[in-house]
Amino acid sequence: MESINLALSMQGVSKRFPGMLAVDNVDLDLHAGEVHAIMGENGAGKSTLMKIITGSFSDYTGVVKMGGRPVALHSPAAAKEYGIGMVYQELSLAPPISIAENLLAGRLPAGRLGLLDRKAMAREARHCLSEVGLDVDPFKTVEELSQHEAQLVEIAKVLGNRPCILIMDEPTSALSQDEVQRLFSMIRHLKNRGLAIVYISHHLPEVFEIADKVTVMRDGRKIATKEIHELTPRSLVQMMVGQDIDEFYRHREAKSGWLVLQVNNLTRLGFFHDVSFELHSGEILGIAGLSGSGRTELARSLCGLDPVDAGQVFLENAPLKPANYPDTLQRGLVYLTEDRKQEGLFLRLSVRRNVIASIFPLLTRFGIYRPEKETAVVRRWSETLGIAAASPDVGAGTLSGGNQQKVLLGKCLATNPEVLILDEPSRGVDVGAKRKIHEAVMALADSGAAVLLISSDLPELAGLSSRALILRNGRLLGILEKAELSEESLLLAANGHWEPSHA
Ligand SMILES: Nc1ncnc2c1ncn2[C@@H]1O[C@H](COP(=O)(O)OP(=O)(O)OP(=O)(O)O)[C@@H](O)[C@H]1O
Ligand SMILES: [Mg+2]
Repeated sequence: MESINLALSMQGVSKRFPGMLAVDNVDLDLHAGEVHAIMGENGAGKSTLMKIITGSFSDYTGVVKMGGRPVALHSPAAAKEYGIGMVYQELSLAPPISIAENLLAGRLPAGRLGLLDRKAMAREARHCLSEVGLDVDPFKTVEELSQHEAQLVEIAKVLGNRPCILIMDEPTSALSQDEVQRLFSMIRHLKNRGLAIVYISHHLPEVFEIADKVTVMRDGRKIATKEIHELTPRSLVQMMVGQDIDEFYRHREAKSGWLVLQVNNLTRLGFFHDVSFELHSGEILGIAGLSGSGRTELARSLCGLDPVDAGQVFLENAPLKPANYPDTLQRGLVYLTEDRKQEGLFLRLSVRRNVIASIFPLLTRFGIYRPEKETAVVRRWSETLGIAAASPDVGAGTLSGGNQQKVLLGKCLATNPEVLILDEPSRGVDVGAKRKIHEAVMALADSGAAVLLISSDLPELAGLSSRALILRNGRLLGILEKAELSEESLLLAANGHWEPSHA
């Protein structure tokens, strides 16, 4: 019975990178009409395992069978041919070109005289977009879209190849709760249409909601595959990390010291309007809001990456020059981007170069560069955040997604900022690493820095923040005080269901 809907079967599959066995002798069966979650710590080999069956590596060993016969998946084209599609952890779209061109890459309809047939293109693109329920102008560029919309375009692009297996690598790490639900209904729909779906995630509640089966990986090996109803969150985490771990947040007093950052009536037309608040030393101030509420746009304008139309920001009582990030950075305000691939990390440079990227001049004394200082800084942050890299000299691009995130955070923390704006700091990191990141952020605040925290992870937001601003449609609705902070109150407030409990 089982084998009737067997879509793909891996037998003894391995993949070696220089100096490490990333996937070690893995057997895995994928069935049509099933959502199969793959879980495991950062660097466990999840993405690599899936990249094997999407043809990213020509040198894997072992056998992959489809329809009972061995298939050679040694190139992306071959994998596509066999109906295997993947939505990557880091989206693969080209931001500056139009949605239609991204969607139809390689099969653009030519009209008479070989010119592009824009009408046909629009029709075709709209058809693809309708499959994922997205109604946008196909001639917009991808960079004009929100992360969620860009992801839907990416999914539409993959579905355009009519896959029988669809792999999603951490598809919800950039989504709000609403968007996650919309993605889930689409996944259910695709599953009912008979696709085999692989779902890689670090998010336990999501896995329990959407998955039929779970495979756990650790150190490149498969630990087990279980039906979801055989598991509890606790037993699953145990399998992942090999030990018991509790997910509680250390209680942190809502401390606050002197005024560090004052934001007065800040407006960027079309993004956020008339936003005013104060940030004090020692404080972790959360921002609750759905994606699209203007959270990231506010952060980017605050730190001078984007312009403002009105209002002012004072850092230590002196105004910040608008739209001047180098100046802001120099004055001790640092922004951790939510978009680590586009603007956060130098993927070709080493872990070491990335960690010290923002403090390079500080490592010089009397005009002489001090490599021992550099080594100490890099070691400190690698250890504090648990960056798993063979050595600090390997390229950042060769690290697993979660470890890249830790490098990015290390780069920010190494500047010893006075104000740190975190945009989705624990995106894509595993439970253990998340804890380390939280400890590091709390330690920074304990030392007197002020932290502004944007996070779609509500337990994280509720657990770390001393207060939370509520942002909705670009407007600041109010502030939730520590005593009122909970996952529920944050969710309600972000959705506009909130009455101020105090005037
Ligand atoms: N291109 C590469 N070159 C060298 N090593 C690599 C490369 N890609 C991955 N690795 C290594 O292979 C191991 C497995 O990485 P992989 O990306 O599969 O982990 P993962 O389980 O997806 O982790 P995460 O949850 O952080 O995304 C890691 O040690 C990683 O550093
Ligand atoms: Mg990964």
